[in-house]
Amino acid sequence: MDKRHWLECPSTLTHGNIIQRVIFTRKDPQDPRKEGAVLNFIDSFARGYLEPGVSSVSHVNEGIQEFFFVAAGAGKLSSSAKTYPITEGDGILMPTGVEHTFINDGAEPLELLILVETVPQGFNTLSEPLIRNYRSTHLGQGHWTHIVHGILFRNDGFSVIDSTLVVRIEAMQTADNHGHGDDMDEVWYMWKGTGVHVVGKEVWVQTPGTAVSVAPSAPGHSLINHTEEPLQVFYFAQYNRR
Ligand SMILES: [Fe+2]
Repeated sequence: MDKRHWLECPSTLTHGNIIQRVIFTRKDPQDPRKEGAVLNFIDSFARGYLEPGVSSVSHVNEGIQEFFFVAAGAGKLSSSAKTYPITEGDGILMPTGVEHTFINDGAEPLELLILVETVPQGFNTLSEPLIRNYRSTHLGQGHWTHIVHGILFRNDGFSVIDSTLVVRIEAMQTADNHGHGDDMDEVWYMWKGTGVHVVGKEVWVQTPGTAVSVAPSAPGHSLINHTEEPLQVFYFAQYNRR
């Protein structure tokens, strides 16, 4: 388990002009104390920033797929001679081998959450980007108070990611305290609002931009909204299906 705000993480560049802060990376057996190296399955989870009036440099994924969640702003995604409008709340699965460029032609910064997963040899990848806004999916409910919009799931074309969600918890509500095994990665990124995340014996205040990795969660974890405003989390999960 770990907690990191993106401001604590070093800056690097991706796609030419996207400034990224890599929050969590895959566990490194050669360097078990590497900061933020807590993920069991996907390669990395980062926060990206593209200035207004700036485009990324055309990029092709080789051997990996990317998922982008548009956390703020709006713009366009150009891919293989097609142009797609993108806006806050969109999830974008960018398959391997597909050229793509982000264009921030809006007045606001484009803020992206970026997941990278490895694609095994022979994986049946999509041929073009898949874009879905969380607001377009049915609501579900669980863990007492989680109000859940799915975004994209494994059967949409991921190789290892199981689910990407937006989870809402209303003011002054708590989720039940529940556990899962150490073969399950859950990451909770506070998108809007503030909460208190209890993970085992740790008590972490999660302000916007703070990510919590829940792996393992034994004996349990729960996210509490102790404020008078709703909170919204961007969530992703992966686990070993045996
Ligand atoms: Fe959980």
